[in-house]
Amino acid sequence: AQDPAEAAKRKAAEWAASQVEDGMAVGLGTGTTSALVIEEVGRRVASGLRITAIATSEQSHREAVSLGISMTDFAHQLHLDLTIDGADEVQEGTLHLIKGHGGALLREKIVAMASSKLLIAVDPRKLVKTLGSVFTVPVEVVPFGWETTAKRLRDHGFAPELRVNDDGKPFITDGQHYILHCDLPKSGLTAEEAAVAFKQTVGVVEHGLFLGMASRVVIGSVEGTQFLEA
Ligand code: A5P
Repeated sequence: AQDPAEAAKRKAAEWAASQVEDGMAVGLGTGTTSALVIEEVGRRVASGLRITAIATSEQSHREAVSLGISMTDFAHQLHLDLTIDGADEVQEGTLHLIKGHGGALLREKIVAMASSKLLIAVDPRKLVKTLGSVFTVPVEVVPFGWETTAKRLRDHGFAPELRVNDDGKPFITDGQHYILHCDLPKSGLTAEEAAVAFKQTVGVVEHGLFLGMASRVVIGSVEGTQFLEA
């Protein structure tokens, strides 16, 4: 039998993919849930749906291309109608998100900002009362002098840790940056305060707090789907 969490993810992904309409310019997310969305959108494209898309990572771009989805870029398409993406945490009530544990937060945020609507597809395990209770906040930083950026973040109380690959070398994002995982509860700051602190820290490119950006969250479960609206 299929793992219930996997089945839930698929339900959310299928519903999200059903929101794509003919003629739309669509942002495609990153992660395992987004991979299911891309698969489903690919199926719909194969049966006649006409869309153009921009992906939030090289990985998702390759998946979309392999399924025959017609890809564009921001030089040709400044505005997207709908972006569908996953999340690491969704705070119930506010729809604030932590994203970026797939390592794609910078492109994810750029694509989301260019989009009229951001639809987030998750399984119920992603719902939290307080942001940061399960996941750290990934913060994308410039490699040059990252130790000094980390120190500034440490001074804020974030206890940053460099994301490394299995071989111990730093994980490198699509934008050729590093990721520092920051502990939000340890800092004692609210998500809003932390977002400001990250933005004011020299060396930080972008952070994984997506506050007030999601228009809707679809939560899949074996019994069906539920929604949270902004
Ligand atoms: C990618 O950088 C993240 O923001 C993903 O959206 C997040 O990690 C969700 O991934 P899953 O769908 O695999 O849980």
